[in-house]
Amino acid sequence: MSERPRRRTRRSPLRRAALIGAALVVMGGVSAIAAPTVSNASPLPTEVGTGAQIFIKNCASCHGMNGEGVTVNGTAIGPNIQNAGAAAVSFQMSSGRMPMAGQQQQSRRTTNTFSADEIKAVAEYVGALGSGPGLPTASQYDTSGLTADQIAKGGELFRTNCSACHNYAGKGGALSNGNYAPPLTGTGVTNQEIWEAVRTGPQNMPVFSPTQLSDQDVQTMIAYLSDVNSSPDSGGYTLGGIGPVTEGAAAWIIGIGGLVGFALWIASRGARAR
Ligand code: HEC
Ligand code: HEC
Repeated sequence: MSERPRRRTRRSPLRRAALIGAALVVMGGVSAIAAPTVSNASPLPTEVGTGAQIFIKNCASCHGMNGEGVTVNGTAIGPNIQNAGAAAVSFQMSSGRMPMAGQQQQSRRTTNTFSADEIKAVAEYVGALGSGPGLPTASQYDTSGLTADQIAKGGELFRTNCSACHNYAGKGGALSNGNYAPPLTGTGVTNQEIWEAVRTGPQNMPVFSPTQLSDQDVQTMIAYLSDVNSSPDSGGYTLGGIGPVTEGAAAWIIGIGGLVGFALWIASRGARAR
C-alpha cells in the first residue's frame, strides 16, 4: 500500500534530472546540426549551450524550461519572460536581481555573481525565445564626447521623464504599496543598466520606447546621471541620503510627533482654563 507513493517521491528527482538531461541533449543536438550552416569557427553554438545550461539551473524553476512562466496552485512563481528580451535578462542579472532569492515583493539590487560572458549567453538564449529589446551596443551607452549642452539636455529629459519616481537628483523615492524606485547614483548602476532599464521597464517602471526617447536622448540622460554621480553633494541637508525610507520616516516621526505634542499642549491648556 505505502510502497507506491514512496517510490514515486524517490523517483521524481531522478525523473527531473533525466528530463533536464534530455533537454540539454536535444539542445546540444540542435546546435550541433545548426553549427556547420552558420559558420565553421562560430563560437555561437557553445554560447547558446552555456546560456541554456545556466538558465535551466538558475531560472527554470521559476520561469519554466522555455521561459513560459511557472504557476503553482494559482500563484505565479515567475512570469513568462519569452518576450522580455535579451536586454531585460542582462539588466536583471547584472544588477543581481535575478536569480531572485525566494519570494520577495520587489527584487532588490544585489551583487551579481555571474561573469559578463555568462550573462550575455543567458540573455541571448532568452532573447531567442521571442521578441523583445536586444542587447545594446557599447556605442549606445557610451557618453564620451557629449557636450555640456547635451548633458544639460539629458538633465531636462531626466527631470521630465524620471524624476517623478527617482527624484530630480536620482536619489530614488518611495512608491505606493511599499514599492520604491531605487537611487540611480552611488549604488554602482552602470551605463548599460540604465539603457536596459529604460528600454525594458523593470517591475513598476514604464517602458520608454525609441519613439518616446531616442537613443541619443537616453545617451544624454546617462551622461547627466554620471555627471551627478561624480560631482560632490551640492549642499542642503539630505538626512544622510540613506535611502527612500529616511525622509518618509522623518516626516512621520517629526510631523506626527509634533502634532501629538501640539494636541497634548492644547489639551493641557484647555484643562487649565476650565
Ligand atoms: C525564485 C524565483 C525566480 C528565479 C529563480 C528567477 N526569477 Fe526572474 N523573476 C521572478 C519574479 C517573481 C519576477 C517578477 C518580479 C520582478 O520583476 O521583480 C521575475 C522577473 C524576471 C524578469 C523581468 C521580466 C520582465 O518582463 O521584465 C526577467 C528578465 C527575469 N526574471 C529573468 C530571470 C533569469 C534570467 C533568471 C535566472 C538567472 C531568473 N529570472 C530567476 C522570479 C524568479
Ligand atoms: C513610475 C515610476 C518610474 C519612472 C517614471 C521611472 N522609473 Fe526607473 N525604476 C522604477 C522602479 C520601481 C524601479 C525598480 C525596479 C525593480 O525593482 O525591479 C526602477 C529601476 C530603475 C533602474 C535600475 C536601478 C538599479 O538599482 O538597478 C534604472 C537605471 C532606472 N530605473 C532608470 C530610469 C530612468 C532613466 C527613467 C526615466 C527615463 C526612469 N527610470 C523612470 C520606477 C520608475
